[in-house]
Amino acid sequence: MPSLHELMKTHEQEINSFQPAGAADLENYRIRFLGTKGIVKLLSAEMKNVAPDQRKEAGQMLNAFKTLAEEKYNAFADMKQSSGGNAPAVDITLPGTPIAAGTRHPLRMVENEIVSIFEKIGFSVATGPEIEDDWHNFTSLNMPADHPARDMQDTFYVAQNPDWVLRTHTSSVQARILETQSLPVRVICPGRVYRNETISARAHCFFHQCEGLYVDKNVSFADLKQTLYYFVTEMFGENTKVRFRPSYFPFTEPSAEMDISCTVCGGTGCNLCKHSGWVEILGCGMVHPDMLRNFNIDPEVYTGFAFGMGVERITQIKYQVNDLRLYSQNDVRFLRQFRPA
Ligand code: DAH
Repeated sequence: MPSLHELMKTHEQEINSFQPAGAADLENYRIRFLGTKGIVKLLSAEMKNVAPDQRKEAGQMLNAFKTLAEEKYNAFADMKQSSGGNAPAVDITLPGTPIAAGTRHPLRMVENEIVSIFEKIGFSVATGPEIEDDWHNFTSLNMPADHPARDMQDTFYVAQNPDWVLRTHTSSVQARILETQSLPVRVICPGRVYRNETISARAHCFFHQCEGLYVDKNVSFADLKQTLYYFVTEMFGENTKVRFRPSYFPFTEPSAEMDISCTVCGGTGCNLCKHSGWVEILGCGMVHPDMLRNFNIDPEVYTGFAFGMGVERITQIKYQVNDLRLYSQNDVRFLRQFRPA
């Protein structure tokens, strides 16, 4: 049986030449030499067999051996697995590294607000596809192939199928609702729309709209005005004034555009309202009888109103955002400003 001294010499060589390949290697080393059943422990247990007059010297050698084994291990401390048991203690009272929390996008916040204002008066949310066919985006809305109003909306066509477009407005959802739902209907339809526009501060190739549609017996223009007036006072405050200007849309008759008194200057004139005191916020009108007929609805029995607003426009007015590109650049310095209070 080799003496304690010989045993230590052999293991010393092993320790000196030990070069861990990785954390697992180092951990095996720890278990082999420093573990509760490791070599250091075993050799310590051997001390009792050493003759009393040699114990002092053997004890010193054992201590030196233990230090050597530990130092080797510590020299590779940065390889240690955190689960290795000998990992440095973590001070759990130190403040953590902050995790940057995201915020809701301003357009989504405003869209949610628009939707909930209309939900309070009985509108429900409806959505439709962003790739739309000609019928739902144009023809059923009283815009046949040769209609000049099509030119107002620079359309993206889908190469695969000449009948498909990226919807140019959420009015296409109106068409889908009239096609599939039984009357009366009262829906608010938020969504993304696309137009082939050069991107600038004032135009973008995609943006967002919210469409409203109400069709029932005895729906009048007065209902339209009152509904939109309610919306504006909820959205922009009680003192906001509205005005309607006659306009033209193929799918409504009569049609109007609605302005609100400028929320920035209150009507005295500023950049937002281009010194007119008024800002345009949406288009609206009574659903055209021909459009109702397209969906087998008798315009002598049913009437309805519709409106469509740009979510970017409402957001611009509410928060004075003066460049449309900011909405899609994902610059956190912009987005962080809309953190809800
Ligand atoms: N679809 C129109 C646009 O994109 C907006 C619009 C106007 C929608 C009048 C309507 C409406 O429902 O009645 O410019």
